[in-house]
Amino acid sequence: MLISPSILSADMANLKSEVDMLNASAAEWIHFDIMDGVFVPNLSFGFPILEAVRRCTRKPLDVHLMMVQPERYVERFKAAGANILTVQYEACAHLHRALEHIKKLGMKAGVALNPHTPASALEEIANLADLVLVMSVDPGFGGQAFIENSYDKVSRARALLQRKNSSAHVEVDGGVTLANAPRIKAAGADTLVAGSLVFTAAHPQEIIAKLAAV
Ligand code: DX5
Ligand code: ZN
Repeated sequence: MLISPSILSADMANLKSEVDMLNASAAEWIHFDIMDGVFVPNLSFGFPILEAVRRCTRKPLDVHLMMVQPERYVERFKAAGANILTVQYEACAHLHRALEHIKKLGMKAGVALNPHTPASALEEIANLADLVLVMSVDPGFGGQAFIENSYDKVSRARALLQRKNSSAHVEVDGGVTLANAPRIKAAGADTLVAGSLVFTAAHPQEIIAKLAAV
């Protein structure tokens, strides 16, 4: 499995050492949960944090925009060092245009589906997205419980992508644990976001290695 730890749960007072830990771990990417307080009832962080982490790592930065009208900031996230830029399906009136814009700037384009949004929403953009992010919690906070319906939804998303000959990543985000990771993989995901599981662990690199080995 490809692991993308979410720094939302990292110790922000020691961010450099947290990134040093990730650099020496089996994490492939680093996940950034950007929250605007409108699309989700929480505020997290923005460009200064992304730019700072960019200076501390060579790993791809996997940026998840939980904000309204994300297309306003696509260029700025590119400039700040994002490699994968994921917008919420529910936040984009012109999702096709937003994904094309992200790709034109040289980033991988992701679309995130909230728990209530069916996998079938991917039908018309399956061949444009490089990544599908299945939200397995209601977005806005780390440390929430995994929504059980997400397994079937991952399978439906993967089946739709296969039917469309899309090799897009299927990433699962929210409530990922060592206990549910094997079933998430079996359902068809190839990428896992883990926030609290990693950053509350006594030995986070061990946890990341175990997730990667699933
Ligand atoms: C929630 C975020 C998730 C969250 C995952 O809105 O998108 O990435 O940080 O955190 P855990 O792994 O703690 O559920
Ligand atoms: Zn996320």
